[in-house]
Amino acid sequence: MAPSALPVVHLPEELRAACDDARARGQRVGFVPTMGALHDGHLALVRAARERAGFVAASIFVNPTQFGPSEDFARYPRDLDGDRAKLAAAGADLVFAPDASAMYAAGERTRVRVHALDEPLCGAFRPGHFEGVATVVAKLFALLGPGVAVFGRKDYQQLTVLRRMAKDLFFPVEIVGAPIVREADGLAMSSRNAYLTEDERARALGLSRGLRAASRAFEAGERSAEALARIARAEVERSAARIDYVSVVDPDDLTPPEGGEVGPRALVAIACHIGKTRLIDNVVLGEDEPPAGG
Ligand code: PAJ
Repeated sequence: MAPSALPVVHLPEELRAACDDARARGQRVGFVPTMGALHDGHLALVRAARERAGFVAASIFVNPTQFGPSEDFARYPRDLDGDRAKLAAAGADLVFAPDASAMYAAGERTRVRVHALDEPLCGAFRPGHFEGVATVVAKLFALLGPGVAVFGRKDYQQLTVLRRMAKDLFFPVEIVGAPIVREADGLAMSSRNAYLTEDERARALGLSRGLRAASRAFEAGERSAEALARIARAEVERSAARIDYVSVVDPDDLTPPEGGEVGPRALVAIACHIGKTRLIDNVVLGEDEPPAGG
């Protein structure tokens, strides 16, 4: 399909009708929610959805309720035409690009909160963030009725929160967690990387270096959560003036490992500020390949 031919709908009812039509044709609906400014990490999710569904819809919506008052909502990068061409090339069938007033109509009152899982890690630094994410994704699930939805493991806590939300609210959707897509030097792709200056871009490698160091220590037998966190943190400290957290937690419930020793799998998660840009990255020890790079 020519990129320009990729249909874009803006209204919730148009999206619902297109998904109903696909189901009437016997197609499974696959869904990839995004905030746009798309990169290869997003496009890998579209390809993963394509493999699992006959009809693939992506949404582009910079969701106001998941941004804090001092965060980057207003300056978040936006490029609908460029995104549309990329989505067409990756095999999407439809783009949903609603206005905020369509997703949050006058008089709306409903929020979805996934308790406990929204408290550690980013939850402690971005109050209300996961409530905004769970709310908008629940609204989108209700509109599309997807059979499968694909999320990146880059936002590991988000994936964990949304798996729980889908289960608790009986959404009949398979949630797929796709691997983190990285640049050749190890930096995890992110729409926010566009904010980085050349010097900051170089310093941003501190995150993947920290994860690599922790992975090596784990492979060499280190099982102390505190030691693994310290090893990762030492790399991050070299680059970031402000660290929100470097945490080693259980990859399923995001709690600290009992007795301070990690089991066969452990999540190492990092959030820090490089200049004015907040970056996150993670690795699941015992499960993920350590980030490549030097
Ligand atoms: P956004 O940051 O645009 O990310 C959309 C999806 O792309 C998420 O599932 C995210 O985990 C995934 N993603 C981003 N960078 C990735 C990378 N380098 N490798 C693999 N996947 C990557 O996450 C959101 O938007 C929003 O919170 C949203 C779920 C759309 C709700 O508003």
